[in-house]
Amino acid sequence: MSISQLASQIAESPTLVLNEKARLLREKGEAVIHLGAGEPKSKAPFEALLAASAQLSTAEVRYTPTEGVPSLIKAVIRYMEENYNKFVGPRNVIVSGGAKQSLAVLLTTIINPQDEVVILAPYWVSYPEMVKMVYGIPVIVTPEDGRFEPTMEDITQVVGSYTKAIIVNSPNNPSGAVYSEDLIAELVTYCEKKGIYLIMDDIYHKLVFDNKKVPSPYQFATDDSENSKLVVINGVSKLYAMTGFRIGWTIANRKVIETMINVQAQTTTCPPLPSQLAAVGAINGPQSNVENMRLTLQNNRDIMMQELEAFDGVRISKPSGTFYCLPDFRAYRQNSVELSDFLLEKVMVVTVPGGEFGMEGHLRLSYCGSVKEIMDGVARIKWALDPNSPNEIFIGDRKLVRDWL
Ligand SMILES: Cc1ncc(COP(=O)(O)O)c(C=O)c1O
Repeated sequence: MSISQLASQIAESPTLVLNEKARLLREKGEAVIHLGAGEPKSKAPFEALLAASAQLSTAEVRYTPTEGVPSLIKAVIRYMEENYNKFVGPRNVIVSGGAKQSLAVLLTTIINPQDEVVILAPYWVSYPEMVKMVYGIPVIVTPEDGRFEPTMEDITQVVGSYTKAIIVNSPNNPSGAVYSEDLIAELVTYCEKKGIYLIMDDIYHKLVFDNKKVPSPYQFATDDSENSKLVVINGVSKLYAMTGFRIGWTIANRKVIETMINVQAQTTTCPPLPSQLAAVGAINGPQSNVENMRLTLQNNRDIMMQELEAFDGVRISKPSGTFYCLPDFRAYRQNSVELSDFLLEKVMVVTVPGGEFGMEGHLRLSYCGSVKEIMDGVARIKWALDPNSPNEIFIGDRKLVRDWL
């Protein structure tokens, strides 16, 4: 079959593959526990549903301006003021079909073939593939053993004349780490000095715990002009539990946004109108859902930590945000793909191999499900790996006997 060289180099999405495996096992009636999920279980806000259904009931669902409907652009501008203390104009905003598309359109807009994009490990699985899709070169920075936050020294060592951008994701998927204010400040200053794009993927920026706050990168910027290369990406997927609506947005200088509008116009025209209006409903509506979800996630995080702490040999770094953690299982297995497959096969627990995020020997575990799923899921993992566990366990009404330790 004739497939392009570029496309054949793009890896399948490991998280979507795992979702499919879990779905098939559940269909067969297996008692699968999904600790690999990438979306909160909460319901979408009522105001979002109301706004989308009001539009649908008119039976007139048409194209919109490529950059998004004015009411959503306005809502995003207000969101930036409220949450970043940053005043942006309508020409600094483009709405896309999820933050993922925001990133793809942005990278198409700024990356030339062979340009390098610095990605900080552990990183979201899609970044390297997205960079490759625009013929760029992903350059991975891996912090010293066990750390989930790189130092400026780690980063500056890989920056050279081909570096076009650095992508920062804090709160971080997969580790849940929130980078220190000092690191963000230094990154903003450094990128300004070097004239490189600093892309802040802020999709989890309000899902933080223990009274922590994610700093606004703009407070460290000295260049407030239309030449600024600071870009912020955000969206409704995680914050409002609206993953299926597919709405994200980009804040950047006018030239970048103008060009992104051309790129998006020639690919998807515009994001779907009902989803855009749902996003307006969510952003402008009461924000109690966000706070309730944040508190639930913090409680789930605490339970996950408590369960993992009772697990000899597993090293954990307590996450300060998101709904993921990335424990180190190297005491049990070095190869995270093998370990993840083993856990799915033996005890029906879905986990995501850390190798996919640039952290071999780790597993990403999500705590966005129920407390029972977290407790039972970790108990099953412990049973499968820990030689001191009893020899039998019940999964659903099936008794399993361990024959591998
Ligand atoms: C770090 C990060 N960025 C972006 C996205 C994409 O979000 P969206 O659903 O808005 O495309 C995700 C989703 O998992 C993510 O984890």
